[in-house]
Amino acid sequence: MSEVTEFYNFALEVAHYGGNKIKEGYYSQTVSSNLQSKADPCDLVTQYDQEIEREAIKMIKDKFPSHRIIGEESDAAGEKWSLTDDPTWIIDPIDGTSNFVHRFPFVCISIGVFVKKKPVVGVVFNPILNELFTAQVGKGAYLNQKQRLPIFDPTSAVVKSPRDCMVISEFGGLRDSASLLPKSSSMYKFAVAAQEGGLGCRGIRCLGSAALDLCQLAQGSADVYWEAGPYIWDIAAALLILKESGGFAISSASPNMTLDQAHKFDFLARTVLAVRSLAPVPSDRPRSQQENIAADSHALD
Ligand code: IPD
Ligand code: CA
Ligand code: CA
Ligand code: CA
Repeated sequence: MSEVTEFYNFALEVAHYGGNKIKEGYYSQTVSSNLQSKADPCDLVTQYDQEIEREAIKMIKDKFPSHRIIGEESDAAGEKWSLTDDPTWIIDPIDGTSNFVHRFPFVCISIGVFVKKKPVVGVVFNPILNELFTAQVGKGAYLNQKQRLPIFDPTSAVVKSPRDCMVISEFGGLRDSASLLPKSSSMYKFAVAAQEGGLGCRGIRCLGSAALDLCQLAQGSADVYWEAGPYIWDIAAALLILKESGGFAISSASPNMTLDQAHKFDFLARTVLAVRSLAPVPSDRPRSQQENIAADSHALD
């Protein structure tokens, strides 16, 4: 068994543990016990977030003592993390904590594994809707380990032009995008247009989970995702799932950059602009060599 497959199998174990715990909390009366807010009153944390992360870390440490772990609740200040060449597990024990507390069913555990600073495994599990999104580098992305992503054909008649796009955006962790991006930048204009609904797209959605937002693109249910504010644990796993489904993502260190200039994804920039696959990759056949080259050359490399 390859090293990546070993990491993948274990990530599934951790995701199932976390998923069961999320489900238990979601349907129990204790979901709001120990409810606290962090730096921002909208950024909530519950005993479930803390307990799932603690146990996930313990499981990973027992199995892979030399691996590094970055987790949202162990890194509450948000800025302390750094990636090294060592195998590194990046965990968001509950992505969509507000949804969890309000019982809005877009809630998941997100686990990404990086080796030499590159993503090799991504697992995002929503136990409420029973949807497991997974990817291993170079092996495609899957829903519930059976259906290859994207499930829905990106070239279908539904989307013919940008006006037909379904856009996902979030109010996110950085509510004041002007503080992050110059007003003249394309990213800022996109954010304002998207949030005001003036983009000329078909619709704008806001699911409350960055990881599940990206998985909607990966499966072909939405076309564009933009957010200012996510941390590495919100998106690490789902970006690999998107990439393996043929999608693209850029961060915005230089705000006027276009898709053509997409560069190394910079998690510290805390901005994401992602689009679903531009060419169809039918789920019932492996990619051609050309498709693999195209997928390999995109922004996350
Ligand atoms: C948040 C969610 C939300 C996104 C924020 C994240 P949390 O994560 O993903 O959709 O807009 O940027 O911080 O706090 O629920 O794990
Ligand atoms: Ca949070
Ligand atoms: Ca999160
Ligand atoms: Ca979280």
